[in-house]
Amino acid sequence: MTCVATIRPFPPGPGWVPLILAAGLLAGGCNSKPDRGAAADIQSARAPASSEPQGTAQDPPALVFIEFVATPHDVVDRMLKTAKVTKHDVVCDLGCGDGRILIAAAKRYGCRAIGYDLDPIRVEEARENAKREGVSHLVTVEQKNVLSVDLEGASVVTLYMGTEINARLIPQLSRLGPGARIVSHDFGIGNLPPDRTVTMTSREDRRPHRVYLWRCPISGKSE
Ligand SMILES: C[S@@+](CC[C@H](N)C(=O)[O-])C[C@H]1O[C@@H](n2cnc3c(N)ncnc32)[C@H](O)[C@@H]1O
Repeated sequence: MTCVATIRPFPPGPGWVPLILAAGLLAGGCNSKPDRGAAADIQSARAPASSEPQGTAQDPPALVFIEFVATPHDVVDRMLKTAKVTKHDVVCDLGCGDGRILIAAAKRYGCRAIGYDLDPIRVEEARENAKREGVSHLVTVEQKNVLSVDLEGASVVTLYMGTEINARLIPQLSRLGPGARIVSHDFGIGNLPPDRTVTMTSREDRRPHRVYLWRCPISGKSE
């Protein structure tokens, strides 16, 4: 059976330990469900069990799911600026939610953007938003588990996921070549020291946010 863990992206900030229900799931034989309506849909929408590694009481959960919480628009802007996106880039948002990062990249810089999300509701929403904003010719959204996507072709990868899943993305992120950039909202990637950290207070939620930047390749950057 494939196990599912839900991780909340909030509250961000120093000292916060992500709430990983994996422990409960593993202890409980992986029968627990994520705790939100949309997330519950993931149970039926997830990749077929055969394409996921099998979880056991000893293994980490095969599928990590992060709840949808949108990055404030001004933080999105800062992420794209920090990555120095140009029209020649291909921006890839892993866990794209409502598509706001993809849409901002396409509208502001005229670049192509591809997003992946496991939740079919988010996928549909992101596609509709891209259409409404007139950038559906530049924006592609696919329903996939981020842990199994091929990042070849992406020159900028954006993340607002969580420490656990970010660390598990390292094998895919390590394949990004020279010139590519990774920007993550609020969460680091394993023990990779970022090349730049920007702290800002969003006008939308009046909370502090961090934007981390890594220049690729990231292999060999670990502390
Ligand atoms: C915190 S939200 C970030 C949304 C968007 N990137 C943003 O910054 O506004 C995380 C998103 O990732 C999606 N997600 C969570 N786990 C996933 C997984 N394993 N594979 C693909 N998408 C996932 C959720 O459905 C949600 O839309």
